[in-house]
Amino acid sequence: MKSKLSHLRPKGLHIVTMGCQMNVYDSQQMERLLEPMNYRPARDPEKADLILLNTCSIREKAEHKVYSLLGRLARLKRKKPGLIIGVGGCVAQQEGHRILERAPHVDIVFGTFALRRIPRLVWQVIEKKRRVVDIGATELVEPPCIRPSQFQRGRATAFVTIMTGCDNFCTYCVVPYVRGREVSRRPEAILKEIQYLVEAGVREITLLGQNVNAYGMKKGHGCDFPTLLEAVNGIEGLKRIRFTTSHPKDLSDALIAAFGSLNKLAPHIHLPVQSGSDRVLKHMNRNYTRDYYLERVESLRNVRPDIAITSDIIVGFPGEEEIDFKETLSLVETVGFDNLYIFKYSDRPNVAASRFANKVPDDIKSERFSRLLELQAGVTLRKNRSVVGTIQEVLVEGLSKKSDEQVTGRTPCNMIVNFPGTKQLIGELVPVKIEKAFSHSLFGFPVNRREDHYGRKGGTPYAA
Ligand code: 5AD
Ligand code: SF4
Repeated sequence: MKSKLSHLRPKGLHIVTMGCQMNVYDSQQMERLLEPMNYRPARDPEKADLILLNTCSIREKAEHKVYSLLGRLARLKRKKPGLIIGVGGCVAQQEGHRILERAPHVDIVFGTFALRRIPRLVWQVIEKKRRVVDIGATELVEPPCIRPSQFQRGRATAFVTIMTGCDNFCTYCVVPYVRGREVSRRPEAILKEIQYLVEAGVREITLLGQNVNAYGMKKGHGCDFPTLLEAVNGIEGLKRIRFTTSHPKDLSDALIAAFGSLNKLAPHIHLPVQSGSDRVLKHMNRNYTRDYYLERVESLRNVRPDIAITSDIIVGFPGEEEIDFKETLSLVETVGFDNLYIFKYSDRPNVAASRFANKVPDDIKSERFSRLLELQAGVTLRKNRSVVGTIQEVLVEGLSKKSDEQVTGRTPCNMIVNFPGTKQLIGELVPVKIEKAFSHSLFGFPVNRREDHYGRKGGTPYAA
């Protein structure tokens, strides 16, 4: 396949990535897999010969979003009949042939298990001139260990998927249906991949899985999640480790202890609580109680007092009463999350909760959403203001969207910081004195430059 096509002129590949970080990782894998077929990333869809949508179906209107984007792409296909359009990911897995029926200009439908077969599917369209659907689950799920390409160099941060799928079947969630059962990658493959990334300039990696705490628990590669973290911590040249997502029920003492012992593990955990009411948590099939969650938070803060804790909450789950919602408000107040992602419950195909009675009306969901958002906005702003005047170690990720003369990066606790600088700083850890706090970001000056500016010697003690 390679020799047949590699003589062709470089062709443009445009990938639209929707949804979670795992999709971002998958899209990068697709880019890499299509490189031997002479596809090169194209920012502009008008210049692309192949457009792939990597879709997400976690929340409502996901299918609608895909079809409306496809509607817009129909015009491009009319202008350029040779354009190949593929739909992959969770919506593709769920919808299958229906996509070909509803969108006659789509050439490929590939589900979550077919990602690594994408070169073959594209080849079939080019050579055999036929439309293809691949939503089978026959292939080994373990992603191969791929070196980053020349196009993926120059990045300070990267994602590495360590496990796919989920066995938890929370009653609202579509993931187990579209991503299948939990499968952990072998630790050697993960470590090798991180080494490749570090050689390519990456300084921070985020380990990804729907429930990373269950890593290696099922089949067992003789390595559980804390053990994997310890091995990753030993990789030379790597500066920071993050991971997401953690299910509270599997947050072990060993993992909590890792926040105290591993020097590269960033002090941030995303720990979705979903609700503060025991009754709702039970109906969600979350397998923990409010008190258990609060105890885990306390243990984390005992080990790492500065740890940032973020969370997800669903408002308006079927049967959620005002009294349950008040429990959520009080939990949010008690914990004081650094940031919160709030979602209005929506029915998803196949999930148990879609068959539950007592659906919460839309206006009540919206009202609860606003109340919770307002509560959290105040807490986040307070937390952001509390770091004004401190010096934070910022890993520079790129130029700021606001100005070419500013760069943007994150603190260990995952706060976004913008400060004056050039793209040469990408990948550097820079001590930055925080001057201003906004609702979603911070602004500051790099310590040395600021000190120079005022003609002083030395600097404020490093306090990150
Ligand atoms: N409705 C609303 N929010 C949902 N989430 C998952 N499924 C649903 C649903 N059916 C939210 C959860 C999860 C986050 C990724 O998306 O809060 O943690
Ligand atoms: Fe979905 Fe629950 Fe699995 Fe998370 S743990 S992916 S919410 S089923």
